[in-house]
Amino acid sequence: MAEKQQMVGEVYYPTPEVITQAHIKNYEAVYAEAQADLAAFWGKIAAANFEWFKPWETVLDESNAPFYKWFTGAKVNIVHNALDRHQRTATRNKAALIFEGEAGDTRTYTYQQLHYEVSKFASILRSMGVKKGDRVTIYMGRIPELMIAMLACAKVGAMHSVVYGGFSTEALHGRIEDSQSRLVITCDGAWLRGEIVPLKNITDEAVNRSPVVENVIVVKRTGQDVHMEHGRDHWYHDLMALDIANPNASTEVMDAEDPLFILYTSGTTGRPKAILHTHGGYMVGTATTLKWVFDIKPEDVWWCAADPGWITGHSYIVYAPLLLGATSFMYEGAPTHPYPDRWWQLIAKYRVTILYTAPTAIRGLMRFGEAWPEKHDLSSLRLLGSVGEPINPEAWKWYYRVIGKERCPIMDTWWQTETGAFMITPMPCVPLKPGSGTRPFPGVEVDVVDEDGNSVKANEEGFLVIKNPWPSMLRTILGDPDRYVQQYWSRYSEQGWYLPGDSARKDEDGYIWIIGRIDDVIKVSGYRLGTAEIESALVSHPAVAEAAAIGIPDELRGNIIKGFVILRQGYEPSDKLSHELRDHVGHEMGPIAKPSTVDFVTSLPKTRSGKIMRRVLRAQVLGQDVGDTSTLEE
Ligand code: WTA
Repeated sequence: MAEKQQMVGEVYYPTPEVITQAHIKNYEAVYAEAQADLAAFWGKIAAANFEWFKPWETVLDESNAPFYKWFTGAKVNIVHNALDRHQRTATRNKAALIFEGEAGDTRTYTYQQLHYEVSKFASILRSMGVKKGDRVTIYMGRIPELMIAMLACAKVGAMHSVVYGGFSTEALHGRIEDSQSRLVITCDGAWLRGEIVPLKNITDEAVNRSPVVENVIVVKRTGQDVHMEHGRDHWYHDLMALDIANPNASTEVMDAEDPLFILYTSGTTGRPKAILHTHGGYMVGTATTLKWVFDIKPEDVWWCAADPGWITGHSYIVYAPLLLGATSFMYEGAPTHPYPDRWWQLIAKYRVTILYTAPTAIRGLMRFGEAWPEKHDLSSLRLLGSVGEPINPEAWKWYYRVIGKERCPIMDTWWQTETGAFMITPMPCVPLKPGSGTRPFPGVEVDVVDEDGNSVKANEEGFLVIKNPWPSMLRTILGDPDRYVQQYWSRYSEQGWYLPGDSARKDEDGYIWIIGRIDDVIKVSGYRLGTAEIESALVSHPAVAEAAAIGIPDELRGNIIKGFVILRQGYEPSDKLSHELRDHVGHEMGPIAKPSTVDFVTSLPKTRSGKIMRRVLRAQVLGQDVGDTSTLEE
């Protein structure tokens, strides 16, 4: 068994053993190499680790910034690198995906088997007319077919738009409409804590509001009776049994800059944004970050416990592990089902070597006490990871001590849907401070600045900025390039910096401490939600005239949502109505977006131009000073 890490003050130093084994042994040296010549740095990595149908002419094209392009002129397909090329080597017989369902059923796909399924399904998609540039909406539980569907889309050159299975009718409908998807792939239901989440019923409701959808493919997972619309709905297993399901389907040749997928995410205002990622840069960025940060080795069993419906799952369940030829583990259900040791049992059963999860999950499991993890042999673990929100030092230390037995460094990775891959993150060779994402990944230059772009002093709060482009960056917001420029590049347009929307501190060692969002994005249990979508769900109820939603800090979930509504004439405040409104948001948006409370008010704080001042509401609820209210309407 490996040695314990050395701790000096609040700094945790890696053991010599960890450093000797790691892909990257000297962070400073690699960082300096990237700083010296960014294009050369990424060009070298791209050439050495992937197969390109045609090489690039330019690594980084900045001529139309902030619409940066990477590997221009190159031809590639991420699926060729994730699956096809492994068929020629011993990797073909290696487990790509080990899956356990909530009920305990298991399935393993080797790289050969996964390639077989993806190819067959890709030819089904083609037979339905899906082609390069089309959008396909995927709305499923955490099962292997979700991964197969995503990869099949990418193989034929269509963009997948995965909608998280915890979202509901209106959230799904809005994303189908915005993307103009003619095909939706779903399942009859998803298992969650022994119960069925009726995904097909929700899909029916959403599709009935969306005339654009022509076909729905349904994977049978939970087995209850579901309505199948004649001519529109098709069972996945029926299609896969057809002769046209060709295991040798070709992989579309794409430009490096061709779209790979869109993923909707919440922003400051209005509708969710379709963040667009491309085949070439995303491939290079995700694989390199996973390899260096989680130090992936052929013998690892990698468990990213996120949902494929969020960027963490896209990058680090689906694409990066397959690009590296790694073995991933996927579990369908809740961490506490049937008992709070389900995760620990799974780690012992599959000898998982790396666990990557969110602080909210750690805090949730911590509540049940140490006896549950103590029951299981967790000695296979060698690295741990955290993502999605700041991890409080208490949860960090519990994770480190009780799960990692003081041997496993914790990689606290800061990144976003927009960044595609880790941006601020330790590597195993970097000394750790609990609660800090430590330093930027090589090639990424970050700072913490004031309104004018001046670096703030050490340990002072400011805006986090990213000063240079990176391969896995978003390319635009699909259908709304102006919003892309406005949202991310306008605040520091003179300097050409990217604004992630987080506030942070930088300490005297250059370590970054993320504080939280500076906009109206609320992180609930690590899930990213926008106040605007919650408010529009509230207002879609007949009783509501106006609504506001805010996030309030919560020990377990990071934040909880509080709603405030002004009722229409003829409606009276009551506990029953408050309940009904919460359920209404749950029905339209999904359980994660359900406010913890909905209060009735007669007015909302607004600016003179009519914008709700959520900051004022939040301060009132928390009993804090409301700050500058000079723009507040009388
Ligand atoms: C937050 C998730 C602190 C941050 C990958 C960011 C974090 C937003 C961390 C993006 C972390 C993510 N420490 N905060 N390690 N990781 N965040 O798009 O506010 O769902 O802007 O991507 O999550 O959320 P998203």
